[in-house]
Amino acid sequence: MSASKPVRRITIADIARMYEEGERFATITAYDYPTARIVDEAGIPVILVGDSLGMVMLGYDTTVRVSIDEMLHHTRAVARGAKHALVVGDMPFLSYGVSQEESVEHAGRFLSEAYAQAVKIEGGVRSARTLEAIVASGIPVMGHIGLTPQAVNQLGGFRVQGRSRESARKLIADALAVQEAGAFAVVLELVPAELAGAITERLSIPTIGIGAGPHTSAEIQVVTDVIGLTQGFTPRHARRFGEVGEALAEAVRGYRDAVISGDFPAEAESSSMEEQVLDEVLGRSELDQAEVPTAIPLDRDL
Ligand code: KIV
Repeated sequence: MSASKPVRRITIADIARMYEEGERFATITAYDYPTARIVDEAGIPVILVGDSLGMVMLGYDTTVRVSIDEMLHHTRAVARGAKHALVVGDMPFLSYGVSQEESVEHAGRFLSEAYAQAVKIEGGVRSARTLEAIVASGIPVMGHIGLTPQAVNQLGGFRVQGRSRESARKLIADALAVQEAGAFAVVLELVPAELAGAITERLSIPTIGIGAGPHTSAEIQVVTDVIGLTQGFTPRHARRFGEVGEALAEAVRGYRDAVISGDFPAEAESSSMEEQVLDEVLGRSELDQAEVPTAIPLDRDL
């Protein structure tokens, strides 16, 4: 008899070891149970339940609209599907940074109510004290600098960050602040490749790039972009590795046509019963016709 080995959950110590050993890794977002299972079984070590949820799954025009309850709901589904990967819950707009007590309490909900193992917060220098407080309470935190979509109204749009001298210096300061505050990794979003490489060289925690070129320690992408499920605008930094949206549409059209033509459901997709039982129920046997129900008085128990 062979007992199957229990699956061990990836921890931030494993991520640190992979980083030390120069092992580059891919991470990706997920928002639901089946996708989390597929991503987990593909061996992706870190899954982010990103607040991109709002735009790619819930149809909002910005991530600013996503609530903590929506994030917790989807994080729970992902945590149920991922048996191996480290699950990171993305803290939504204003669920952190208003007060440290509230930030820690909300971060804690991702672990205690949604079974994530870590959280992510946006912002460099501006979020460093908050990040430090969450880490001090025992919760691993992933940082996120560069284009921080929750601050899109302040940044003036979804554009590359760090191209000017001033903003490049600010970005390096942000990266160092996040590391100093205790983050186990930091996302660099929409940053010039050269600057992302320079930041990666200066840090001793992994950088996880998205739209940040090839010189980061790891990469993250939004799952709908990668599988070809994103409708409308796909960012330049994303590559479609499949056409799941097209496959989905084709399957739905096939189902619709099969129902209309009578091809589905067929016998193999149906169940049957003993003919004699049906004959009795329908009064087709010698049973008294009077026993066959025609109309049921509403107050009668069946
Ligand atoms: O919400 C998200 O999907 C993210 C990634 C783009 C890093 O923050």
